Amino acid sequence: MKKYLTKRNILLTLLLAFIIIQFFPIDKTNPPIELNKDFIEITQPPAKIASDLKTMCYDCHSHETRYPWYTNIAPFSWRIKGHIDNGLKHLNFSLWSDYNEEQRLHKLDECVDMCTKHWMPTLDYKLMHGRLSDEEYTELATFFELAKIKKSQAHNFDYLLGDWKRTDDDEGNQTFESWRKFGTTEYRGHGYTLKGVDTISQELMTIKKNNNEWVLGVKLPNESEATYFDLADMDATSFAFSSEQNEFPKHIEYKAEEGKLKAAISGDGMVIPFTFVKK
Ligand code: HEC
Repeated sequence: MKKYLTKRNILLTLLLAFIIIQFFPIDKTNPPIELNKDFIEITQPPAKIASDLKTMCYDCHSHETRYPWYTNIAPFSWRIKGHIDNGLKHLNFSLWSDYNEEQRLHKLDECVDMCTKHWMPTLDYKLMHGRLSDEEYTELATFFELAKIKKSQAHNFDYLLGDWKRTDDDEGNQTFESWRKFGTTEYRGHGYTLKGVDTISQELMTIKKNNNEWVLGVKLPNESEATYFDLADMDATSFAFSSEQNEFPKHIEYKAEEGKLKAAISGDGMVIPFTFVKK
């Protein structure tokens, strides 16, 4: 009987299979690039970060995939294509502006996570392209973290503007708050509480940009200088300022919600909520 399972035959069959699968190449067309939607264009990182993103992330997370020679060889090409398709599904830097605010913040959070844990790029990719140094990972993570805040700083606080009346006052008290805008980077607020005709408390507030960072200053009539709080969090309809040095409050938050303004001052386990409606 003839022997079919010889070493030679097995090798020949494998070779034939290898040749045949080369007739099933991967699709290497990149979708068109719209620069105005691109993450790097929008966030304008320093050159080093931009180049790290391009060389270490953009191959699987953008429409600018480069296909080196080994992506011509099946079955590796299939595995690579799988990574690219899957990577793009999770995160596409080329369509960054199509994500809404919440999605962007979430993606940025995940990017910070991936870089701090050194989980991206994938293992295969690191083998072929080399890896980022610990320092480069830290730089990337810091940049993603910063992009979260920068992004929100494009917003403003215009929802504060107008004259407000508190709806959850103590019995017999009436509290009011008014906000006006000065230029594009300063808001001034005046809050006061009346008991009968007497003003029992009063404060002046300013939200302004200081060296590119928003700060909130609060000044009581008997104080010569305002107490300043740093921006801790912000999105399109809310913000939070904090100062760990201040005795009380340590945190001041506002949120615009269905025509109302909800605020809270808090610290050391105590929270005082405020709800305002337009006067
Ligand atoms: C070789 C392709 C490849 C490269 C290069 C790559 N990624 Fe990914 N990335 C993927 C794949 C595949 C997934 C989906 C993983 C999964 O299924 O959980 C992913 C997922 C992600 C996610 C989403 C995680 C989640 O939980 O949804 C983030 C964020 C991410 N990558 C960031 C990065 C960053 C930042 C870089 C560059 C430093 C990078 N990736 C480089 C392939 C890649």
